[in-house]
Amino acid sequence: MSFRILGTGKCVPEKILSNQDLSEMVDTNDEWIVTRTGISNRRIATKETMTQMSIESARLALEDSNTTPEELDLIICATIRGDYLTPSQACIIQEGIGASCPAFDVNAACSGFLYALDVADSYFRSGKVNKVLVVAYEMMSKLIDWNDRNTCVLFGDGGGAVVLEKGNDLLAIRTTAAGNTKLLSIPNMMGGSPFDESVQEKQILNMNGAEVFKFAVNGIVQEVAAVLEKANLDKDDIDVVILHQANMRIIQSAKQKLKMKKAEFFSNLEQYGNTSSGSIPILLDELNRGKMLKDGQLIVMVAFGGGLTTGACILRWNKNSEPIFENQNIFSSDGDSTSHEGNFS
Ligand code: ACO
Repeated sequence: MSFRILGTGKCVPEKILSNQDLSEMVDTNDEWIVTRTGISNRRIATKETMTQMSIESARLALEDSNTTPEELDLIICATIRGDYLTPSQACIIQEGIGASCPAFDVNAACSGFLYALDVADSYFRSGKVNKVLVVAYEMMSKLIDWNDRNTCVLFGDGGGAVVLEKGNDLLAIRTTAAGNTKLLSIPNMMGGSPFDESVQEKQILNMNGAEVFKFAVNGIVQEVAAVLEKANLDKDDIDVVILHQANMRIIQSAKQKLKMKKAEFFSNLEQYGNTSSGSIPILLDELNRGKMLKDGQLIVMVAFGGGLTTGACILRWNKNSEPIFENQNIFSSDGDSTSHEGNFS
């Protein structure tokens, strides 16, 4: 017995930063950014704080799931950097929504949402919890060098949340890590000691784009195969694919290699850029609220990012139906067979 998804929420800052806006800040242009990444706009926090927006995502997910804060047994927040080093962002959310359960953060960079689901799965399996709130939120605008055209065009701010309840809709989940500070890293330079003689690095994102690209495509293909095997499913059983929204060319390359006959690959990257661990819950919430997911559909989600980490899972979308228990057929699916690629908004 693990979990089912009861409700979703998302919150993004108001300010839209377009490719045209960026071309006035660094030596770039709309054509380069769109062709290399598929991104046209991203949301950037100005007055909004991560605290306000992560609490709002949580509030919307609670509302969507008809859950009160008092019912929650655990809150997990996936983030690279909350508003405070301590308390954790999850504790801040707990206070903000008026819950009283344990709360802690998980840092697995862009794979954070999947890592948080994996941790939640263990809590459900151990019988410790009935309802869990998972929030994934990032403010990448505070962690990138706005003079570096190689990276500043890629990222945006935002995140989302899900409320999970005891159930049998998680069919497989898997996380991996291969420690590496060379390909993708953000040094932590907060504070400072008068005794510190080490060379100070800047607290900005460093990335080898070409190598991360290869890691991402190979990682997606390997992890889809691994979770399919774990769930004893075939790739053509899958109805919907939700990949971490990092680059449209990564999504297209993975799609080509995966050769899944009926699965729809959804994307909203064009409007939000890469929001790190926030990207999958933002897209999931838009699909949920846009009524793009049908009960019974099987969804595969895959994320990859700093660590280097990956996370992947297969779950059945079953939000509007009664919970499915172990003696029922959990693999039936009647999703539509069209292939969809491109934007969803
Ligand atoms: N505008 C114009 N030109 C640019 C820009 C820009 N914004 N950025 C780079 N260029 C130039 C480079 O300087 C280079 O010029 P040169 O040939 O004169 O040296 C040229 O464009 C080509 O640069 P490449 O780095 O080869 O471009 P590439 O096609 O590899 O695309 C990109 C770069 C988009 C970063 C790609 O490698 C990528 O998407 N990698 C994956 C990155 C990723 O997904 N990261 C996130 C995953 S982890 C996480 O989410 C935290």
